Amino acid sequence: MQVPALDERNSFAQRLFAPLPAHYDSLAEVLSFGQNRRWRRAMVDHLAPGRDKVVLDVAAGTAGISLQIADRTGARVVGLDLTREMLRYGLANVSAAGLDGRVTLLNGRAEQLPFADAAVDGLTFSYLLRYVADPQATLAELARVVRPGGTIASLEFLLPPAGFWRFWWRGYTRLVLPVAGLITGGRQWYQVGRFLGPSIAGHYRRYPLAWTVEAWRQAGIRDVSCAVMSLGGGLVMWGTRASD
Ligand SMILES: C[S@@+](CC[C@H](N)C(=O)[O-])C[C@H]1O[C@@H](n2cnc3c(N)ncnc32)[C@H](O)[C@@H]1O
Repeated sequence: MQVPALDERNSFAQRLFAPLPAHYDSLAEVLSFGQNRRWRRAMVDHLAPGRDKVVLDVAAGTAGISLQIADRTGARVVGLDLTREMLRYGLANVSAAGLDGRVTLLNGRAEQLPFADAAVDGLTFSYLLRYVADPQATLAELARVVRPGGTIASLEFLLPPAGFWRFWWRGYTRLVLPVAGLITGGRQWYQVGRFLGPSIAGHYRRYPLAWTVEAWRQAGIRDVSCAVMSLGGGLVMWGTRASD
């Protein structure tokens, strides 16, 4: 399928992620000290087994979350991602898990989903909103494809509150992460390590948490809740698609 016209942010994300998939699954865990695994589980906990029967997992990457959804909830899952190289590894992961029949992967953009209104029962997205030009419009597009009453859940990095933990977070993201990225994954992971801290801080300067919660509501999601994870390093959000 041809992905609709890409904007500048999309091209940037593709350039960033295309060289990463070979080491993505292991380094996402190592560089987060295993927190990524906890955060994923916390997000998937909000899907309702048996009720969210078809789940769209947006920004699926190498399909780790799509596989966990299929495994833990019994849902049929469509994983969608912008970067073909990530999906290629995702396909191998799906086959290795023996879940080809239940998990399908699709190349596409979150901003323009190739689905009708209310087409899926549940939707997840992870580490996405920093890569889109208009988070509010993207949230509306994500909510559009979920049936009323369906679950929407997300996982993103967060900026720890100012003070002690922000100080350590800054030190980790500015100094340790680039060097650890270089040692474990090479030059491409050094670039990611350098990019991540300023990207997270810049995003929340522009779109603070209170803005994000309100943006979910504006997108037509009700009962919006969040859990701040790991001293403010991660954010799990969930809610229910409202009836129009
Ligand atoms: C940090 S990775 C996370 C992958 C996966 N969610 C996980 O947690 O393992 C971010 C992913 O978002 C994808 N992405 C970025 N912008 C996107 C967009 N506009 N639409 C769909 N996917 C996007 C990238 O291609 C990349 O695979």
